[in-house]
Amino acid sequence: MIRKFRIGNPIETDSVVKDIEITNGEIPYFKEDAGTKSLFIELDQEDKVFGLGETIRGMNKRGWIYTSNNADDPNHTEDKRSLYASQNFFVITSKSRTFGVYIDTPGTVTFDIGYSKFNELTISFEDYDFDIYIIEGPFEGEEKEVKGVVKEFRSIIGRSYIPPRWAFGYGQSRWSYFTAAEVREVADKYDEAGIPLDMIYLDIDYMERYKDFTVDDKAFPDFKEFVSEMKNRGIHLVPIIDAGVKIEDGYDVYEEGVEKDYFVKKEDGERLVAAVWPGRVHFPDFLNDEARAWFGNKYKVLLDQGIDGFWNDMNEPAIFYTEDHLKEVFDKIEEYKDKNLDINSFFAFKDLVGSIDNNDSDYKRFYHEYKGQKIRHDKVHNLFGYNMTRAAGEAFERLSPDERILMFSRSSYIGMHRYGGIWCGDNKSWWSHLLLNIQQMPALSMCGFLYSGADVGGFGADTTEDLLLRWIAFGIFTPLFRNHSAMGTRKQELYRFESVDKFKKLVELRYALLPYLYSEFMKAALRDEMLFAPLSFEYDDERSGEVEDQLLLGESIMLAPVYKQNETGRYVYLPEDMKMIRFRAYDDYDEEVLSAGDHYVKADLGEVLVFVRKGHVLPLAKPENRTDKVSADSLKYICYEADSDNYELYTDDGISRIK
Ligand code: GLC
Repeated sequence: MIRKFRIGNPIETDSVVKDIEITNGEIPYFKEDAGTKSLFIELDQEDKVFGLGETIRGMNKRGWIYTSNNADDPNHTEDKRSLYASQNFFVITSKSRTFGVYIDTPGTVTFDIGYSKFNELTISFEDYDFDIYIIEGPFEGEEKEVKGVVKEFRSIIGRSYIPPRWAFGYGQSRWSYFTAAEVREVADKYDEAGIPLDMIYLDIDYMERYKDFTVDDKAFPDFKEFVSEMKNRGIHLVPIIDAGVKIEDGYDVYEEGVEKDYFVKKEDGERLVAAVWPGRVHFPDFLNDEARAWFGNKYKVLLDQGIDGFWNDMNEPAIFYTEDHLKEVFDKIEEYKDKNLDINSFFAFKDLVGSIDNNDSDYKRFYHEYKGQKIRHDKVHNLFGYNMTRAAGEAFERLSPDERILMFSRSSYIGMHRYGGIWCGDNKSWWSHLLLNIQQMPALSMCGFLYSGADVGGFGADTTEDLLLRWIAFGIFTPLFRNHSAMGTRKQELYRFESVDKFKKLVELRYALLPYLYSEFMKAALRDEMLFAPLSFEYDDERSGEVEDQLLLGESIMLAPVYKQNETGRYVYLPEDMKMIRFRAYDDYDEEVLSAGDHYVKADLGEVLVFVRKGHVLPLAKPENRTDKVSADSLKYICYEADSDNYELYTDDGISRIK
């Protein structure tokens, strides 16, 4: 059962696609305090809180405070409250009650989940205008309530985005591969090492001076020919698109946007001048239907050159500075000149200079034309990246009506999950971020972001070979499986390391798992189910509710990745008897049935632990170096008290759009 309540006059987000009548009366479970613009609920000792999509910290969100205010912040440390996403759906669950809550409003919302008071969850709003959906059972059949709640929620927000099957291959990225020759070398080295690969990503330097929908023709002469050369080798090039459009005379996207009046403007009607990679830019008003359709059509420039996948970036939007704010800062700096900077003035000065980028005041400087109204950006901030990706997604339906196009974004809001996946932004090559990746996946599944993953190996900071081995050993299970790293950091293409053979076997295992991963992904997308889940979504025992570093993937398996340095094994909790598979390669593994309870299990670098659930089956294919060669025809089945007939394999041509 879903009930929708409306407080005030919320701005429509288009995240919910089903018509649900508004229920009048009090919101169940919560107490309202319009004075402090908050909702409260008392938490029982046993209540667990799962969800909120891409955030920091663990699977159970209890004990911290999270703010939905999409942020371009590359330091995903435990003290942060906001990352790139606003996915305001969570469930509160215990033996005595289970219900879901979706808060639909595009502005800033804060979820204090037992941070101020351990037994209280407070949701506070900058503007007290929102829709709240309360979702609860009973559900038909034997469905566990918590799963029923998620499924019901997903049924109102529309089907998750489905990428082409090749997007389940392994992708190599780097900021940046600067020339066609460099990209070719990456492909060659992978092929020489025999490591499967389906995608190479192009970061901002493929463009001509960071202008969207251009290609630097010195670095990539005859781009179309190059795209086709790579495609003939079975490798898809996936270029980045940024939110800001460079201000430059003669640049068609800029000139057209000005002429048609599609860029965001300030109160006085002047176009906002901000800066990102290209220096000064304008932001398209993705919230305006016409501007969105116009920007979406621009992807055609690259589609026409054979490109069939993209990643949308800097769409919170990230702002290095605005001209207006910069001027204010320079004026202020004058005041500090010749001053004896004391404790107060020094820190004020430091803050002034250090907060030029992504400055709060800048998000209040410009407006959108949204659904016939002029709305200040900060009121709809969390919809910006969503609508950039929607621009692309809607355009792909027009421009490529038959075939799926790969699309994922950095910033997101619920609703965007219909148009693309996400990657979890600029993580670091830290062991704690491998754990974070493990913990984020179930919450993303809950919110419909099935095609997602993190930068494997870590984006910022220097990776180490053992971290990369462990991260790849987890990444082989995430739908988006991309190794990406920042400029200036240690290069982390797999062929650069001593353990190249181990890497090869790990990536091959991914390709062997493809029929399973694709089947489970498709079933989850088509049935509004989760792909990754915390153990307690399946098992009722107390311990399962507390496991933060193991997760279920699809119907058959549980994962327990090793995520600590210098450890060659780990403790694993089994909620029931399971068959443990220790893979050294897709065709080299031991099997052992382990009884319910705690076990210390060995997993050396390069080894992967998979636990097959009772009555379930894990199909394995013969791996190939490209996804399109992996066939689901002669599968091998690892079964635990089941046989191959117990597994529902999903197959299709992997490219036609699913209507
Ligand atoms: C942002 C993206 C990162 C990309 C970089 C350069 O930091 O999150 O993935 O490599 O910009 O485009």
